Amino acid sequence: MFEIVKRDGLARIGKFQTRAGVLETPALLPVVNPKICTVTPRELYEEFGFRAIITNSYIIKNNPGLRADAQEKGLHAMLDFPGVIMTDSGTFQSHMYGEVEVTNEEMVEFQKSIGADIGTVLDIFTEPYWTKEQTAASIEVTLERTKDACGLKGDMMINGVVQGSVYSDLREDCARKMASMDVDVHPVGGVVPLMEQYRYLELVDVVISSKKGLNPSRPVHLFGAGHPMVLALAALMGCDLFDSASYAKFARDDRMMFIDGTCRLQDMQSLGCGCPACRGLTLEMIRKMDKKERERTIAKHNLFQLKDELALVKRYIMEGRLWELAEIRCRAHPALLDALRRLEEHQDFLERYDPISRDGAMFYTGAETRGRPVFRRYISRLLERYVPQTEKAALFYDEGSKPYGRAMGADFDRVRRAGYTPVVVSPFGPVPAELDEMYPIAQSVFPRTEDADTSIESELFTAGFLERMFAGMADGREVPDGGREEYDPNLIRAKAVSRHQFGKDATDALFRGKIDLIISKNTGKIRNVISDGEHILSMRAGDGLYTLRKEGAERIVSSIPAPFMRVGVMDDAVPFVSEGRNVFCQFVTECDGGLRPMDEVMVTDGKDRVIATGRMVLVADEIRSFRKGVAVKVRSGAGDES
Ligand code: GUN
Ligand code: ZN
Repeated sequence: MFEIVKRDGLARIGKFQTRAGVLETPALLPVVNPKICTVTPRELYEEFGFRAIITNSYIIKNNPGLRADAQEKGLHAMLDFPGVIMTDSGTFQSHMYGEVEVTNEEMVEFQKSIGADIGTVLDIFTEPYWTKEQTAASIEVTLERTKDACGLKGDMMINGVVQGSVYSDLREDCARKMASMDVDVHPVGGVVPLMEQYRYLELVDVVISSKKGLNPSRPVHLFGAGHPMVLALAALMGCDLFDSASYAKFARDDRMMFIDGTCRLQDMQSLGCGCPACRGLTLEMIRKMDKKERERTIAKHNLFQLKDELALVKRYIMEGRLWELAEIRCRAHPALLDALRRLEEHQDFLERYDPISRDGAMFYTGAETRGRPVFRRYISRLLERYVPQTEKAALFYDEGSKPYGRAMGADFDRVRRAGYTPVVVSPFGPVPAELDEMYPIAQSVFPRTEDADTSIESELFTAGFLERMFAGMADGREVPDGGREEYDPNLIRAKAVSRHQFGKDATDALFRGKIDLIISKNTGKIRNVISDGEHILSMRAGDGLYTLRKEGAERIVSSIPAPFMRVGVMDDAVPFVSEGRNVFCQFVTECDGGLRPMDEVMVTDGKDRVIATGRMVLVADEIRSFRKGVAVKVRSGAGDES
């Protein structure tokens, strides 16, 4: 069973329940070669804190000594490892050395007999150079074997490996079929050659097309991803598990892994590493070690690099900043930059899972930042949901201070008195003044010098927006004061943010009759929206977005049919949710597919009555497939807190 604790991009901090304990994801599984053990499993557990390893059952089976040992004592005792043990099946040996002389059934039974916690089907490794026909035919065999393995697995968990070479449609189709079977983990396989050849651009297509078909409630393992420099990107794409044989393989060839690449010991000019393995050592000292000690030192160094990067990836997910880390890491090699740029092509898919808001500011790291879904979402909502309040717009340029209304307040007032809407040309594209305090506009930091790509695109978006929304425009600096006073910037903002967040129809339902705004005395910002005497919305100071109150939710429900903005729950759950308990996945009957993580949502009963409001934690397709975990974080009666 897998549960999501925190999310960012497609990445998730999860808890994966196995019979050897709960594994926190993302997790990296060092590959243990039972014949070699450069670093022992016990050391991996205690010194490095790795809670899961992967070893090869095919190697064990083919070595009479190991085989007898494993079958007699079990893997955990044989390897002296108290955490989760995953085993591979021999597929990789077939990729490396050709045919393997075992059957799928034999391998599954063997993995079971030695006490593997998670075993692997004997899948067929689809090589990147294979034809589509060859790939499709071999996927059929892998699927057939996976079906058999599900029947044989007993209480061992099983890896159902997604294959499909570089064919996105085959990957997605294979993933969808894997998702329909009783497998426990979804590795994405056949990608080692892509990573070895730095074909990261294709890796992005392979992973994303697999993710599209997979069951979101199962962890995804990227088979063979064991270099620290790919972890942030792979996690961002929704990979939960990784394994590394390279830490040991590279060590055998005197190669040290760093976050920005791999260095050969003989070519290095300085060590520059403060990891526990290198501490107190110089390059000279490592070079002079005997082969065995050197190999062990470098293997440990490599493991520390992986461990540190994984910890950093987790921290960035917790902080909602994984895009930033991935963008920075993808500058380690031009091939990774290609991958990052490729990810932009998958923005529509990524957008469905991208949280509406986050704590703290968003940092721009370069032109690729515009590839984040938050940019596309802003522009598409602006074009679909914005309603201009004047005929003409007055243009201003982003000068770095935010919110814009703070820095350019006097200018904004002047053009408003002349009947213009102030519009700032920003790196996001056009920002009408009434949206300037809302996430991500005010909560983002850009360099003062703009890069050409960003300027060009922003100008382009602005031109399209102005043409669509306004009859005319002027340079904001040149518009004289018109002296008109009949506008209310707070009311314009209150409605504009609501349209951007909930849409036009919901805003018409919410803003009825007499509107009173409660403004904070300290900040001058809108706090509460009162309509016909009812408190319907509260605006959060941090992200400038609304919290929906029950009174507001009832208005939306009575004017817009289900499932809009709703999560419906079973009768059994109604008393609990009404009291303010969270909504768990297993009680959800229907869910609006347009809702995103952190979106405001109305929880309704079987008769479409509002029983609570809250924030989405998971999205519709996740709620459908998760058996456990919180789907909606419910706000208790008062509804004032975020
Ligand atoms: N190890 C690396 N790649 C693969 C793969 O595609 N399948 C299996 N079973 N193991 C792997
Ligand atoms: Zn080191």
